[in-house]
Amino acid sequence: MCGIVGYIGEKQAKNILLEGMRRMEYRGYDSAGIAVSDGNSVTVLKKAGKLDGFIPIVESADVKGIVGIGHIRWATHGVPNDTNAHPHRSSDGTIYVVHNGIVENWQPLKEQLTRSGYSFFSQTDTEVLANYISMHHQRLPLEEAVRLVMKEIKGTYGIAVISTKESGTIVAARSGSPLIIGIINDDEYMIASDATSLLPYTRTVVYLKEREIAILSRKSFSVKSISNKIIVPQRTQISWDIKEAEKGGFQHFMLKEIMEQPEVIENCLRANLSIINDGRFINIQRKFKNIDRIVLLACGSAAYAGIVGEYMIEEYTRIPTKVEIGSEFRYRKPIINKNTCVVAISQSGETADTIASLYEAKQRGALTLGIVNVIGSTIARDVDTVIPINAGPEIAVASTKAFVGMLATLALLAVCMGRSRGMSKEMEKSIIKELLLLPNNVSKILKRGECIKKIAEIYAHYDHAYFLGRKYNYGIAREGAQKLKEVSYVHAEGYHSGELKHGPLATVDERFFSFFIMPEDSVYEKNVSNLEELKARNGNAIAITTEGNKKLSLTADDIITIPKTIETLYPILTVVPLQLFAYYTAVFKGLDVDKPRNLAKSVTVE
Ligand code: G6P
Repeated sequence: MCGIVGYIGEKQAKNILLEGMRRMEYRGYDSAGIAVSDGNSVTVLKKAGKLDGFIPIVESADVKGIVGIGHIRWATHGVPNDTNAHPHRSSDGTIYVVHNGIVENWQPLKEQLTRSGYSFFSQTDTEVLANYISMHHQRLPLEEAVRLVMKEIKGTYGIAVISTKESGTIVAARSGSPLIIGIINDDEYMIASDATSLLPYTRTVVYLKEREIAILSRKSFSVKSISNKIIVPQRTQISWDIKEAEKGGFQHFMLKEIMEQPEVIENCLRANLSIINDGRFINIQRKFKNIDRIVLLACGSAAYAGIVGEYMIEEYTRIPTKVEIGSEFRYRKPIINKNTCVVAISQSGETADTIASLYEAKQRGALTLGIVNVIGSTIARDVDTVIPINAGPEIAVASTKAFVGMLATLALLAVCMGRSRGMSKEMEKSIIKELLLLPNNVSKILKRGECIKKIAEIYAHYDHAYFLGRKYNYGIAREGAQKLKEVSYVHAEGYHSGELKHGPLATVDERFFSFFIMPEDSVYEKNVSNLEELKARNGNAIAITTEGNKKLSLTADDIITIPKTIETLYPILTVVPLQLFAYYTAVFKGLDVDKPRNLAKSVTVE
């Protein structure tokens, strides 16, 4: 989703804004823009397209000033063109706004403002905000004008605003979209929608909470509630290392993040195994005693991790468990009460659909847990207990290491929940023993990258793909299809292998290939039958199976092997070749792997 950055201090703002925007470009790349104040006037530069096209424009322009705001856009209202790019200016030229979110009541406000003499040039809802703030700012200081507008707009926003009438101030506010204040020193501050933008300058931050307003000046900053109550800001330190958010010699972030997965699993296990016996997990186990239903709430790849988690948790707890999609769950009058445990799964912790459904569940009294990568994010703060994924910053839009971290965390949670439902010590030990072997097993798969690359080259120009799996690997079939779609734009669908014969088989022809995810587990033989059904119709098939399995060599066209583990943990291994396959396919097609068209990493609108 859109990214916001603001700077006020002693340095030239434009370079800091550009660096901040570069580091969160995964939030959107439809356009980029900055507004910089030199104390007398404000210069605005903006351009449709990716940041790479915008940087030379800024570099060649004479933009001076130590106060500024910047924006990268993922379009919601209005096509991605120069006019619709942020920052937006009020038509009287006093107010400049960058905005992440959606103003739902923009239409009546626009009519009211037009009647009051304001003009509109773009198709965006943000221009309404700029004019509306300006209208109140005619008689009120900027901070109060923003507060008034906050009370009257419906929808979501994270905004940063500057005014020609108060050139030494940035006012920022949030409702539904994240904002973080970066404290560089006593006379230098930043505001950003993402911690990664602040990392080159500071690790000391204040997370704005819902409906809070921040006032940044050169000498200080303050935080207030929408009702003008002064809030004592809680400073925290970001633990991420700046190097983790850089490519480190890899051609793309996606490949770097795939390669980091052994370490991610190790970190995730180390951190969460050590807390599995401390208060946090004991607390979960205690509360868990009365739970009779578990809901895993997520969107996108996190929901596919949830499908795997559904099998894991249900198997070890025998409690009915179901994955629910964030954008749907709240609209079905969900049957939730205090005996329901809702687990929100999210890399960013800011996905608006997941958050909205989580709040619905909280209102209905559910016990809420979060499996979240970004600590300090909305979901991490608002659940009863958060279990950090510990994957470090994930920059590529297509999720890989956070996905694998989610699976490892879900496996631990299943063990933890299983304990309170009578899981034997032996069973617990055997799962943990296999979990600890995963980093090494994933490393072995990564060493087979060249072989996967060759297979990707064979299929790179096919038009359609099915990803087929059963039981634990059904969620991986969905994720494998998702990865290929996201980065290589190949039409791909993930199915239960058993469903192939109930419809999809009709579409198979020479432009199709199918991936069978079939380690030698309890459903292996059934998968073999489905593979045979496809081959009998001349379908092209690649199989992912376990090392030493020679039985498929006459059936599948290509085979990728993975090390052996227990059935529950196979998804953490089977997904890795699929990530590499999607990556290399996109590279062969010459696509922008880290920034796929039309997508954004963190989607903060519903
Ligand atoms: C976006 C991203 C997906 C991601 C989904 C959920 O659509 O493009 O890659 O899986 O959001 O994100 P979350 O941060 O909640 O895991």
